[in-house]
Amino acid sequence: MSSGRFITLEGGEGAGKTTQVRLLVDRLAARGIAAIATREPGGAPGAEDIRHLLVSGDTARWQPMTEALLHTAARVEHVENLVRPTLATGTWVISDRYVDSTRAYQGSAQGVGAEAVLALHDLALGGLMPDLTLVLDLPVELGLARARSRAGGEDRYERMGAAFHIHLRDAFQAMAKAEPQRCVLVDAAGDVDVVAARLWSILASRFTL
Ligand SMILES: Nc1ncnc2c1ncn2[C@@H]1O[C@H](COP(=O)(O)OP(=O)(O)O)[C@@H](O)[C@H]1O
Ligand SMILES: [Mg+2]
Repeated sequence: MSSGRFITLEGGEGAGKTTQVRLLVDRLAARGIAAIATREPGGAPGAEDIRHLLVSGDTARWQPMTEALLHTAARVEHVENLVRPTLATGTWVISDRYVDSTRAYQGSAQGVGAEAVLALHDLALGGLMPDLTLVLDLPVELGLARARSRAGGEDRYERMGAAFHIHLRDAFQAMAKAEPQRCVLVDAAGDVDVVAARLWSILASRFTL
């Protein structure tokens, strides 16, 4: 049996990742392609426990390196317990965030260094990378306004200030530009269906659907 495809959605707060991951999975299912939606940090029981440490509480509660290690530890639980076993059955995995978020948030915006984050990723997971990464790009103010309108207390990163979020957007744009084989930068402005259509056309151009 051939492996499923591993697709990640990346981008800042409120870009529409969670919304679009669900729509993608539904649309793949309608085509008869088995796919699961998952997320980081999280996606496996231990990883969800670690998520709670990262997405709530004081913005300064961790040293940046601790934060990079916690994200990496959560990723090991997610990849080894869910991502790899699922791909092995031929089912596609669509993840709301992955290592590019750690590169942007901890590596770049929090100063750990993007190289250090990739070195941790190599050590922890043999550097497993997605087949395709869709980077949702949106002006920071628009994303934060969308994020504020949604419920739930998981807002630790949202509270990190405008300069932090501008830094993140720049980092995501630079990654997409540097890795055009794997990454596509997608305009995330516009209605949900308009963005969904953009994402679907990228998938259709890369894979047999
Ligand atoms: N294209 C869009 N236009 C307007 N609102 C959107 C759009 N996509 C998502 N939203 C809304 O904005 C909020 C943030 O979207 P979400 O998918 O949670 O973003 P993310 O997961 O990237 O932080 C949600 O309330 C969602 O319903
Ligand atoms: Mg989300």
